[in-house]
Amino acid sequence: MLSQETLPLEAAPFLDIANPETSVRAPAVRAARAASWYARTPYGLAILRYEEMGQLLIHKSLRQGSHAWPDHNGVGAGHFADWWRNTILVTEGMDHRRLRRFVNPAFSPKTVRTLMPDFERITHALIDAFIDRGTCDFMSDFADPYSGRVLTLLLGLPEEMGGRILRLAADMGLALGVTYKERLATIEAATEEMYALVEEVLAARQAKPGTDILSIMVNASDDGDRLSHEELLNMGVMLVFAGVDTTRNQLGLGLSMFLDHPAQWEALAADPSLDMAASNECMRMRPTITWVTREAIEDFEFQGLAIAKGTTLHLFSESAGTDPETFADAPFDITVERKRNYGFGGGIHVCLGQIVARNDMAVAYRLLSQRLTDIRAGGPAQYLPDSGNTGPVSLPLAFTARER
Ligand code: HEM
Repeated sequence: MLSQETLPLEAAPFLDIANPETSVRAPAVRAARAASWYARTPYGLAILRYEEMGQLLIHKSLRQGSHAWPDHNGVGAGHFADWWRNTILVTEGMDHRRLRRFVNPAFSPKTVRTLMPDFERITHALIDAFIDRGTCDFMSDFADPYSGRVLTLLLGLPEEMGGRILRLAADMGLALGVTYKERLATIEAATEEMYALVEEVLAARQAKPGTDILSIMVNASDDGDRLSHEELLNMGVMLVFAGVDTTRNQLGLGLSMFLDHPAQWEALAADPSLDMAASNECMRMRPTITWVTREAIEDFEFQGLAIAKGTTLHLFSESAGTDPETFADAPFDITVERKRNYGFGGGIHVCLGQIVARNDMAVAYRLLSQRLTDIRAGGPAQYLPDSGNTGPVSLPLAFTARER
């Protein structure tokens, strides 16, 4: 039974999300959501329901709150923290609008349409390499190289660089998990190497622009205004950081949903037009970014709760996506039309690469389902902690090749 009332702060449930053992899908989180639309956490508040998450994503008293993540983890300075504090994600107001104006055109549906044949080519090539075995590790044999190669396409790099890009992005991505401080040395080394790589690519694009998104950004101008070298560098690193590890993890989580629901896999194989629905439904129930962060820029009241300036709010996308009040306990079903989910966030910081990601994942699920049947676990899977940014580290898969 859902409670509609706002509990006073001291009566609200407490969720220890700083503990890597805490899963955002744990019964305690479900129980908290049933009792209250919000919970207390060591970082601030967790928002647990769909309606409230939707309203808070666009609330004028909130800013993107991830700028405080390094400080929350006791990592005040360093390569990663210094880069992070200047990224588009944590930039606000006119400065953010200006950055989006320059970079949005590079991610238009038209740009993505031209990439679709390449998404298909890469998917088939990766499947060809393991299909005769009847088994694979979905992460190392598919999700890893796929997401890395897609990013090289976006940046106009040789596809062989996909592996290096993936490793750097994954190592930097450790900073967004709850073990940031323990993994600091790896994170710092990856950030330095990523900067050097993007600097090199940028110099090449500035000397000889191509049709890739970095070139579009280099050339973008507005009334004489342009992105500076520093801004381009920061953005280039951001694109790799934000685009590779997310896609890899999301594909793995999506596949884990299909492993649990093989009839849905067959439904997709039978009707390839469900590919985008598959991409969205996987993200609704198993988003890789399990929370997005906001921070109060002023004291305000929301649904009777006084929220003080400086409070951090974590908006739980998985909890919102499975909220029974909105989705009526709907099981994983790619054939049903759903309300939008918040796996790509929302409001002004909504994912810049969402059209690319939705489409590259849709292509991958569609072609995989057309070539593999009888999918089942090929061994025990290994996962990152189920909070912050999550996904499989390894996902052994067994299958039968379909007749072509
Ligand atoms: C499945 C893959 C992806 C997922 C799950 C994902 C998720 C997200 C989420 C949740 C946000 C919003 C964070 C917030 O509101 O606080 C975001 C922002 C962003 N994403 Fe993605 N993303 C994906 C792929 C990509 C790709 C492929 C790119 C680009 C190559 C990209 C670039 C960005 C950028 C630049 C932002 C910051 C936008 C801003 O602050 O204005 N993402 N993403």
